[in-house]
Amino acid sequence: SPSDPDLVERARAAKEKLGDKVFVLGHHYQRDEVIQFADVTGDSFKLARDAAARPEAEYIVFCGVHFMAESADILTTDAQAVVLPDLAAGCSMADMATAEQVAECWDVLTEAGVADQVVPVSYMNSSADIKAFTGKHGGTICTSSNAKRALEWAFEQGEKILFLPDQHLGRNTAVRDMGMSLDDCVLYNPHKPNGGLTAEQLRDAKMILWRGHCSVHGRFSVESVEDVRARIPGVNVLVHPECKHEVVAAADYVGSTEYIIKALEAAPRGSKWAIGTELNLVRRLANRFADEDKEIVFLDKTVCFCSTMNRIDLPHLVWTLESLADGKLVNRIEVDPETEKYAKLALERMLALP
Ligand code: 13P
Ligand code: SF4
Repeated sequence: SPSDPDLVERARAAKEKLGDKVFVLGHHYQRDEVIQFADVTGDSFKLARDAAARPEAEYIVFCGVHFMAESADILTTDAQAVVLPDLAAGCSMADMATAEQVAECWDVLTEAGVADQVVPVSYMNSSADIKAFTGKHGGTICTSSNAKRALEWAFEQGEKILFLPDQHLGRNTAVRDMGMSLDDCVLYNPHKPNGGLTAEQLRDAKMILWRGHCSVHGRFSVESVEDVRARIPGVNVLVHPECKHEVVAAADYVGSTEYIIKALEAAPRGSKWAIGTELNLVRRLANRFADEDKEIVFLDKTVCFCSTMNRIDLPHLVWTLESLADGKLVNRIEVDPETEKYAKLALERMLALP
């Protein structure tokens, strides 16, 4: 939908008044009305690096979700304030692994006699507490664009990986990119005693996958892939690695949001694409490449926007920028120093991956 011209003008004026004091980051899943004010757009990995590369900006306005703002706070200086325009913009996947559950899991691994062989690898889409746990236990963070390198690194440090919290990214990377079999992976269910696993299963496993998933990407199905292939002959199916393993196996290409954009930029004229990721991004790409005669469709019309990404809208952005321009610091996301220390260790291991 076209943005309200009055709000557009107010956002522009507030941003102009703030000048270099503010830096606005926008994740690819944000609404168009918000993306138009982003100084930089990117996937989770690129935005984490971009946030750290702006020490002169007093305010980092993060148009994305809570775990991204936390990571930006960890990677920026103490003098900088990271601001999330709507505090209710969380992530259901990140909420699927709490600090208590993960501590309990570590006890289960210790009890089974495997904890000393386990290296935790946590997806960026996790709370600062989980990142701190990861850093404390010698592990690293990964994103969908460097998951393979993170697993390779982790297997140089130990024999097993505890992958948190997205089972699909963990399984897809292990099987697709690392040549492991599905039998090398076990699923740890935090709602069952001992994760629903025996000590023997934990001893045999190479990948211990946390039972978390993305509520948006988890809804794409093999049927949606088959339907689109029947409907659009010659279509290329390109999906995000947060999709289920069988969907990824049925697709032609798999990659992060940044990978998806690059693939479409490089695609020949006349090519046809069905994309399995968040709808704001797919729509934006369909519009952007329409002139170049690239047909881009959404993989499954029954899947909707990420509701929490969509909470950041133009009214929230205007309120945030106008408050900052009036000298009022609102919606600051601040990770406590002890958590930050270990979470930073894990994030820095990721940033140092080859
Ligand atoms: P990327 O931007 O790293 O591909 O992550 C996708 C996602 O789900 C972010 O919430
Ligand atoms: Fe979380 Fe999925 Fe939304 Fe990303 S798309 S913020 S993983 S719920």
